[in-house]
Amino acid sequence: MNPNSQSSLITVDPFHPEPAAIQRAVECLIRGGLVAFPTETVYGLGAHAFDPSAVRRVFEVKGRPPADPLIVHLASIADTQTVAAHIPPAAEALGLRFWPGPLTLLLPRRSSLPPEVSAGLDTVAVRVPSHPVAQALLQAAGLPVAAPSANLFGHASPTLARHVIDDLGGRVDLILDAGPTEWGVESTILDPLQSPPVLLRPGGISIAELESVLGPIRIAAPAERISASPGRQPRHYAPNARLILCPGETPADIAESVRSTARRERKENRRIGLLAASEVASRIEPSETPVILRDLGSIGDLRGISRRLFACLRELEAEGVDIILAHRLPGEGVGAAVNDRLTRAAAEEDGSV
Ligand code: TXA
Ligand code: MG
Repeated sequence: MNPNSQSSLITVDPFHPEPAAIQRAVECLIRGGLVAFPTETVYGLGAHAFDPSAVRRVFEVKGRPPADPLIVHLASIADTQTVAAHIPPAAEALGLRFWPGPLTLLLPRRSSLPPEVSAGLDTVAVRVPSHPVAQALLQAAGLPVAAPSANLFGHASPTLARHVIDDLGGRVDLILDAGPTEWGVESTILDPLQSPPVLLRPGGISIAELESVLGPIRIAAPAERISASPGRQPRHYAPNARLILCPGETPADIAESVRSTARRERKENRRIGLLAASEVASRIEPSETPVILRDLGSIGDLRGISRRLFACLRELEAEGVDIILAHRLPGEGVGAAVNDRLTRAAAEEDGSV
């Protein structure tokens, strides 16, 4: 594809995607093209998983190191046999319970799957997405689709087609635009091949939900996550601006540390963004603490916060801020995933978090 050419953008109904649009996307995949499509988590950049040159283009377009494996998207649990050598009982139990949905499982890789997909590892990460557009695409295509998040490597994942265009416009053949994604953070990644199973990335399916099926699981330490899952580098979600997590147990404490950090940074003439829950944001007086605010919504609505997180990060970047002040949220449910992404975005270059 000519790098200067435009990506085709097709608007689709998020609940009842138009068959003609899906058909165009299927034809594109079969020809070896790249299709950005919505999932319930974030937008993915899809390629025919059995077409090695299409898979290699995914890495090129994202600027992603070839050592960082992709997730294969399937229409149903029955399709795992096309890419996995077998499905262990624990994985099957999880698939039956949580698929379609925001859970990715590591399975033993089938040898016929091009090694590029899983970066030469002997496992393959698979998931069955629930978004009606992703489902329609996978069912109509009848093939496994390798798809990382459709952003430039290291940037916030795309929750709108606009984000895909901003990062990859012109380098993707087709973009299916179905509006904002439901979860806003990427899927939970679990390795059920180890005993106890290991959580590699928190996401929409919570630790408590996984444990209700499996019993106790182990949460991988940051260093272990990086070696098990090479793409999980500390600065994975880093915005262009420096992100600082302001400590505090209560909204009042956090607001106090936002005020004092903002005072310190303003002395350096920095443009400051604030990414905060409403309970914190409402305690910041704009005349006293001038910040560019993105209100994530109430702490009581962690799903809403996760849905808005990446879009707000991108908006603050677009405002040209030098510093983004943010804070942790309660760690239950999807809060663990939000805290994980914030911690990674705040990590120093040397990998300390
Ligand atoms: O929600 C999601 O998972 C989205 C949507 C598009 O499905 N996809 C996504 O893909 O977040 P990506 O490529 O941005 O993140 C996939 C992560 C990477 O950190 C990669 O290292 C890890 O999955 N991964 C993939 N295959 C793996 C494997 N065989 N072993 C360990 N980690 C693996
Ligand atoms: Mg990604």
